[in-house]
Amino acid sequence: VHTETKDPAFFWKRLECITEAILQPISTIADAVRNTEDYYELLKQAASFEAQQKGHRDDILLSTGKAIAPLWAAYCVRDVHRTRTFIRGVVHAVRAAQKQFPNQNLQLLYVGPGPFATLVLPLITLFGPEEIQFTLLEINPESIALLKNTIRAFEMEPYIADIEQTDAATYQVKQPVHVLLLETMQTALRQEPQVAITLNLAPQITEGGFLLPEAITIRPGLINGPKHLEYIMAHEPGPRDYYYTAEPIMQLDLEFARFCATVDHVIFPLHRTIFSKTQLQAFKQPALFTEIKVFGTETLAYWDSQLSEPYLLMQPYPDEADAILCTQYEISSTPGFRYHWE
Ligand SMILES: C[S@@+](CC[C@H](N)C(=O)[O-])C[C@H]1O[C@@H](n2cnc3c(N)ncnc32)[C@H](O)[C@@H]1O
Repeated sequence: VHTETKDPAFFWKRLECITEAILQPISTIADAVRNTEDYYELLKQAASFEAQQKGHRDDILLSTGKAIAPLWAAYCVRDVHRTRTFIRGVVHAVRAAQKQFPNQNLQLLYVGPGPFATLVLPLITLFGPEEIQFTLLEINPESIALLKNTIRAFEMEPYIADIEQTDAATYQVKQPVHVLLLETMQTALRQEPQVAITLNLAPQITEGGFLLPEAITIRPGLINGPKHLEYIMAHEPGPRDYYYTAEPIMQLDLEFARFCATVDHVIFPLHRTIFSKTQLQAFKQPALFTEIKVFGTETLAYWDSQLSEPYLLMQPYPDEADAILCTQYEISSTPGFRYHWE
């Protein structure tokens, strides 16, 4: 990537190549990493992003979770499988929405675009502004200032229906939403406000529209650390028998969000998951496992990305007998699963 030029044609051409590579199946991991790094450099250049700038590390703490600062939002780009899988999922979802809503100018609501609108920007090389319009909701003013630079660099203005500095967890939509996209999450749905935003916005999607991620599923489970390491280091990896997962304790999807919208006050169910003494002794490390179905077959499996890295449960458990893990999700300024052992 060159560093001096600000020519929109240059940005557009680079974006087109990067998008093409993302939409191809992965040839080698090294190629995918290189392409993602090229994307990150291009975005930084377009936004005139400087990591050291004042305010770029200031998170915003909301009553429903943390809105991460521009610097950390920018770093998300480099999570290779995350960025690829989300972009591929969004492209497939827009094509599905074109079939679902023929001859309509599609409205895509994107929550938390951060400084770069990373997950929708590639769409401008595939669709025209008469086919798709974006509304961008972002709470961080520093991110919005950078986002405007990005939009200018790629001459993306014709695609932008609206940019609002607002809290998406309470926002009321002003026009139809054919596709709702949000990535304001960490693994095990901790810390960031993905759940609160989904519960607010998903029920406002136009009938027949799409929520992305389509489903985020959390399961308690166990990991055998040494066996996992052996698997990673092996030249010819054996079976993936280094972990065990139990039944889900949360599936965040459109159906769940619509159900929650019918009750006055959402209280998440308390789940009790039994692990046998034999399982605990064999695997040792309890964890919460996150699987993210972005759209169709575009899925982030365990360990694929930072968002689907198993979250280790460090409270000691009784290992002399079977043990029961009690979990309950809570929306608060530090959302996540509260848990204890019985
Ligand atoms: C994990 S970053 C994602 C950045 C970018 N979408 C990407 O995928 O690379 C999450 C972004 O969501 C924004 N955000 C978090 N909570 C929000 C809320 N309640 N309303 C609006 N924006 C929010 C943060 O400020 C941050 O820019």
